[in-house]
Amino acid sequence: MRFWLDGIERRGPAGVPVGFVLFAQGERVLGWNEVTGAARGLYCGIGHCFECRVTIDGIRDQRACLVPLTAEMRISRQTPPLPLTFEDAP
Ligand code: FES
Repeated sequence: MRFWLDGIERRGPAGVPVGFVLFAQGERVLGWNEVTGAARGLYCGIGHCFECRVTIDGIRDQRACLVPLTAEMRISRQTPPLPLTFEDAP
């Protein structure tokens, strides 16, 4: 079944969580930490750590390890916001 990752067409099995489909296809980076910029990806695999957050069909912060893949789903890695400045520091 067809889906899209960062605008590139992919194929995968319906009903399998997005994070596991992508992991099986060799994708290890699903986004970047909002503060440090470090790469994030599948970690706990059970919905606890939030390291697998992606944007799915325009909705940010969906946990890839929990959301089943569906046809024509549009998935994108989440980029970090602009770098923090000293004025942003708590
Ligand atoms: S991998 Fe931990 S919440 Fe998805």
